[in-house]
Amino acid sequence: MCGIIGYIGRRGAAEIVVRGLKRLEYRGYDSAGIALVDGGLFCLKKQGRIADLEDALDYASLERYRTGIGHTRWATHGAPSDRNAHPHLCCAGKIALVHNGIIENYASIKKTLLDKGHAILSETDTEVAVHLIEYYYANNTLIDAVMKALSKIEGTFGIAVVSSDEPDRIIAARRGSPLILGIGDDEMILASDASAIVEHTRRVIYLEDNEMLEITGSEYRGYDLEKNRKNKTVEAIDWDLALIEKQGYDHFMLKEIFEQPETIRNAFRGRTLPDSGAARLDGLRLSDEELNSIERIIFIACGTSWHAGLVGEYLIEQYARIPVEVEYASEFRYRRPILRKGDLVIVISQSGETADTLAALREAKARGVRVLGITNVVGSTIARESDGGVYIHAGPEIGVASTKAFTSQITVLILITLLLSRRRDMTAEKGRGIIEDLVRIPEYVRSILDADERVREIASIYRKSRNFLYLGRGIHFPVALEGALKLKEISYVHAEGYPAAEMKHGPIALIDENMPVVFIAPRDEVYDKIVSNMQEVKARNGHIIAIANEGDEEIRSLAEHVIYVPPTKKIVSPLLTVVPLQLLAYHIAVLRGCDVDRPRNLAKSVTVE
Ligand code: G6P
Repeated sequence: MCGIIGYIGRRGAAEIVVRGLKRLEYRGYDSAGIALVDGGLFCLKKQGRIADLEDALDYASLERYRTGIGHTRWATHGAPSDRNAHPHLCCAGKIALVHNGIIENYASIKKTLLDKGHAILSETDTEVAVHLIEYYYANNTLIDAVMKALSKIEGTFGIAVVSSDEPDRIIAARRGSPLILGIGDDEMILASDASAIVEHTRRVIYLEDNEMLEITGSEYRGYDLEKNRKNKTVEAIDWDLALIEKQGYDHFMLKEIFEQPETIRNAFRGRTLPDSGAARLDGLRLSDEELNSIERIIFIACGTSWHAGLVGEYLIEQYARIPVEVEYASEFRYRRPILRKGDLVIVISQSGETADTLAALREAKARGVRVLGITNVVGSTIARESDGGVYIHAGPEIGVASTKAFTSQITVLILITLLLSRRRDMTAEKGRGIIEDLVRIPEYVRSILDADERVREIASIYRKSRNFLYLGRGIHFPVALEGALKLKEISYVHAEGYPAAEMKHGPIALIDENMPVVFIAPRDEVYDKIVSNMQEVKARNGHIIAIANEGDEEIRSLAEHVIYVPPTKKIVSPLLTVVPLQLLAYHIAVLRGCDVDRPRNLAKSVTVE
């Protein structure tokens, strides 16, 4: 949700800033812009993609600039346009600012600034910040002016500010929106996330909320917002650059779908205890007594991570017999949630930065409840603010539609289920059986991926359909929701996920000869019921696409198209059944000519509420 970048050092800033913006583009792609300073200031901004900005830049003429900032926007206040694009400049054209977040009191600040004679050109909330800095800059250094301006600002921000009067520094500050500083050899790269940094350096510092940095080419100084010095610890990132390249795949989403055999393995590697049939998750930081005294678990998340939470509810209630609730983060925090002693909150977030999830985490902590985080991004705000947690180790997920993170989240939820169940009623033998199935999952996923071409053929038959229904029961109901979400997100086709039996209470009215219905129907205890639901769809001339277990002749005779998955224990089955749905959404989107990795209106990391 908006990406910001800053570079200062020995090399030309323009190319490094634009390269960084390309890495951050998945965070937003409504417009992009760059500002460079030496004794003067150069600024260019364009509605559209980074490529449009780059086309308009003449790098040769910009070679001399050693300090620059850039921005890729996901519009909140003001439509995508050149005028609303960042960086925003002050009236004198000396100061440039990029911002990720929302300035909530911008309207009142704007009024004051207009009264003082400032010309505010855009419809954004951001622009007031640069004018406010300009106002204080008359009698202050840049860092002091930024600090004074921030003291008047309510809301969230990650900002980077440069001035042509002090071209040897970048000022950065954070409240609510992530910022990381990469420390290179006589150069510094500031960015919203590590993907823009790793090709330059692996040494980073993470800004905390209400912290600022004054950055020159060779050093940085950390402060709080009252200018007290803060010591920052340098940490190492262990990402491989190859992970953020497409490596021959047409899209990041496809690459990430195909990475799942490996990412699922990474999520359980070293965490199962095959002898005792249990799991080991040291990062939870829960004592035996604490683990035994959990009376209720509340999962909190958004989007795909929320669907993973629904799978978690099913797993933990079924196997560990602990009551579970699953909450949308945005709903949880605004309705005075009832939390009690014995509750454990688990927030799930791929990015670890989703604003609503973070706010819910803080709300739960403020009410004295222990909060664990299941996150992917190491060092993310949610990972750092949780009392404990588990990294899913899926590697960077760049495609806006989440795929490998979902299966890794479920893998971790299976491990948590094992850990809790084995302390309760589950026998070691049962636990061992589950681990045996889990270990086979990467191979099974690979076999499903081998059916990619067949899924593409099915996609080509239905690429013009305007509506889809996804039906599943029990543990596969959340999989139905996730399949429908994938299709909506990237192909802009209306799709609904429903518990299969609920179809009779409404969606059945939609079924006619134009409606494809995707059934998730492996053999489990509700298999017969779901076969009846298929009959109901068939009787109304709907088209059935089924995900079923290998060798299922009954479903073959009912469905027009069947995609087979190997039979497994129910607890691990969502790891398989979701894969064909990811491929189906992907191929339909490609066949419809959609921009799969950058679907319209979406952003990978939603850092505004
Ligand atoms: C956005 C993304 C989704 C993601 C959701 C939650 O909407 O487009 O793919 O599931 O945010 O993100 P998180 O990083 O908290 O899992």
